[in-house]
Amino acid sequence: MIMTLPSIDRRIQSLFPVALASFLILGTAQLVLDAMKSNHSQIQQLFYSVGREEHRRLPVVLSKEDRMDEGCNVFEGQWVWDNKSYPLYTEESCPYLVKQVTCQRNGRPDSLYKNWRWQPRACKLPRFNPKKLLEILRGKRLMFVGDSIQRGQFESLVCLVQSVIPDGKKSLERIPPMKIFKAKEYDASIEYYWAPFITESISDHATNHTVLKRLVKLDSIAKHGEEWKKADILVFESYVWWMYKPTINATYGSNANVKEYNVTTAYRMALETWANWIESNINPQTQKVLFMSMSPTHLWSWEWKPGSDENCFNETKPIQGPYWGTGSNLEIMKMVGDVLRDLKIDVKFLNITQLSEFRKDAHTSVFTERKGKLLTKEQRSDPKTYADCIHWCLPGVPDTWNEILYAYLLQDYRNFLPPQ
Ligand SMILES: *[C@@H]1O[C@H](CO)[C@@H](O)[C@H](O)[C@H]1NC(C)=O
Ligand SMILES: *[C@@H]1O[C@H](CO)[C@@H](O)[C@H](O)[C@H]1NC(C)=O
Ligand SMILES: *[C@@H]1O[C@H](CO)[C@@H](O)[C@H](O)[C@H]1NC(C)=O
Ligand SMILES: *[C@@H]1O[C@H](CO)[C@@H](O)[C@H](O)[C@H]1NC(C)=O
Ligand SMILES: *[C@@H]1O[C@H](CO)[C@@H](O)[C@H](O)[C@H]1NC(C)=O
Ligand SMILES: *[C@@H]1O[C@H](CO)[C@@H](O)[C@H](O)[C@H]1NC(C)=O
Ligand SMILES: *[C@@H]1O[C@H](CO)[C@@H](O)[C@H](O)[C@H]1NC(C)=O
Repeated sequence: MIMTLPSIDRRIQSLFPVALASFLILGTAQLVLDAMKSNHSQIQQLFYSVGREEHRRLPVVLSKEDRMDEGCNVFEGQWVWDNKSYPLYTEESCPYLVKQVTCQRNGRPDSLYKNWRWQPRACKLPRFNPKKLLEILRGKRLMFVGDSIQRGQFESLVCLVQSVIPDGKKSLERIPPMKIFKAKEYDASIEYYWAPFITESISDHATNHTVLKRLVKLDSIAKHGEEWKKADILVFESYVWWMYKPTINATYGSNANVKEYNVTTAYRMALETWANWIESNINPQTQKVLFMSMSPTHLWSWEWKPGSDENCFNETKPIQGPYWGTGSNLEIMKMVGDVLRDLKIDVKFLNITQLSEFRKDAHTSVFTERKGKLLTKEQRSDPKTYADCIHWCLPGVPDTWNEILYAYLLQDYRNFLPPQ
């Protein structure tokens, strides 16, 4: 299937109607509450106060189905109905899901959104096997870095693996700006690090910020990097926080010198700071870095249903056929691609935007919370103001991103196996 994309308006689109801004703060607000209970120095305790034991590595048995054709573009394909194998877990079976994403429990009446499987056109994705993933992660830290979209992917991966770990052998700790899931018998952790712009910003520590007031330090990353350095696998993502206005306040050099930058320019400067950090801190022999492409939004129903004037609310089926929303800025997409290509270290770009574009049905919509509380009946009856068409229900689309992440880790693991 050859995709012909509709002509695209490349202007920066504001991805947050003002009412929505609070959804993006929410995750941070939660981290702040957690901060009262714990603090940063505990991270060291978790990992470094005791020397890490060497664990015996068990070979991961790779079946024929685990092998993916190297040339296969897994990002090109279609969603197929599969209510036999999907979802891969349920809201009830995963105790780590936050209220923000448990759409069904929050009152969503339809459930079809959970039953779609991503089918690449030219090959098959390996079936997700939690034990194999844990074996690959034995003795390692996998860290997701980014905003609340990335937190959804973190939670999805935790839910995908946690069912095979008995109670008492797993834990989830909140140590702002991090969340850390540990699989004790594997000495493995899956972690999340809040950094909505990747580089430092006034939105990092959360007590007192809104999306409306942002200030990014385009050349500062060292503080975040201290924790990132220690991870074995890093998965980065940053997009939606940039996209509130066509310009953004930022500093470069002196903190006193605040300027309004064009968002594309500012994003590129931040990404170059990140690229330099990667090149001087990552050891490609022992560490692996991935970058997620932008997660699409479905804020304007006229894009897939001409003449309408709503959003993702009430959508129950994926979009069929070619579709690309104007919220996914192709100029930024290309720039990210360029920066990654120029890196001396291989960073795998997981281009999940197109496959997620089809899923107008999979956002949390009005079946979510706002400032820590489920939407009220009144708010629900006003989806134009309150529907969240940025975040995704779980189980849902982020599970597919993780199946693709798993597929890559699996192929990579295979490539690093000693020759027989
Ligand atoms: C942080 O935690 C450490 C160890 O648990 C404790 O000694 C220290 O006083 C705590 N600091 C703050 C600011 O709470
Ligand atoms: C699965 O989907 C098929 C086709 O829509 C339907 O006939 C069947 O009842 C569904 N099974 C379950 C368990 O929901
Ligand atoms: C938020 O920040 C402002 C100024 O930076 C400060 O005056 C105020 O006390 C802070 N509020 C909270 C709840 O920390
Ligand atoms: C940048 O900061 C100035 C001063 O606080 C403010 O007036 C302006 O609206 C901000 N610009 C953006 C794009 O947020
Ligand atoms: C921002 O910069 C990019 C690249 O230099 C340019 O193509 C775009 O038109 C600029 N956008 C605005 C709103 O000025
Ligand atoms: C949502 O869908 C239901 C059932 O199809 C329909 O009755 C209702 O009018 C729809 N609401 C909106 C705002 O489109
Ligand atoms: C990601 O995929 C989209 C759609 O398939 C494509 O247009 C875009 O160029 C890709 N981005 C990069 C950086 O390869």
